[in-house]
Amino acid sequence: MKKSVLFLGGLSLVSILMLAGCSKPSDVLVVGTNASFPPFEYVGGVSGDEINGFDIDLARQIAEDAGKTLKIENMKFDSLIVALNAGKIDVIASGMTITPDRQASVNFSDPYYEATQVVLMSKENNSIHNVDDLTGKHIGVQLGSTGDIMAKNYSEDVTAFNTGFEAIMELKNGKVDLVLFDSEPAASFLDKNPELKLIKLDFAPEFYGFAVAKEKVELIKSINNTLSTMKSNGQYEALVNQYMK
Ligand code: ARG
Repeated sequence: MKKSVLFLGGLSLVSILMLAGCSKPSDVLVVGTNASFPPFEYVGGVSGDEINGFDIDLARQIAEDAGKTLKIENMKFDSLIVALNAGKIDVIASGMTITPDRQASVNFSDPYYEATQVVLMSKENNSIHNVDDLTGKHIGVQLGSTGDIMAKNYSEDVTAFNTGFEAIMELKNGKVDLVLFDSEPAASFLDKNPELKLIKLDFAPEFYGFAVAKEKVELIKSINNTLSTMKSNGQYEALVNQYMK
């Protein structure tokens, strides 16, 4: 009796594995990003269409530690959470700020980088000295970003673009008064746009995390292990020195 139960158990395990052929643990880790956010993720490299950056190097180590091959999917920032929850990607690595709203639909890793919003505007514009000066200004932001959400607290005149880069183009064309964007990417865009300046206002710190679907508990553990190992063995600091100013 016992034997046949075991046998049946064995059979059903085999059939489950066969049935699950398409959803068996894959050896590829699909990481979704929006590669318009230097130095965290950007398109460039020798071929000109490689996706590189701080987040991508972290993701490479995360994939390696999980025994998987890294595959990067570049998409619109505001599509990332939808893609994650539809199972199209396994991880979001996109300088994504951990917020309570997002935590309602995804699980975040431990925070891996502290940032804040900053203002980018023309060097000739002297109208912004504190957050109250943002009231009623025409603010450019990246669609779905924390900058987008914050800007709406100050002004009804907010235009959201698919990338921060497009928002900055509009700023240069005088179509928006200022752009609200994350500190490191803003500094990186400033390098190439000497007619702009960066202003730090009294904005709260934000913390970036990698996001995974709620049910992928093992994956989040593995990401946190990689992060803590990289912090203790100096790899994390080396990447900060390589990518940040
Ligand atoms: N930290 C901001 C947020 O989470 C902006 C992130 C934008 N990231 C990107 N790869 N474009 O909303």
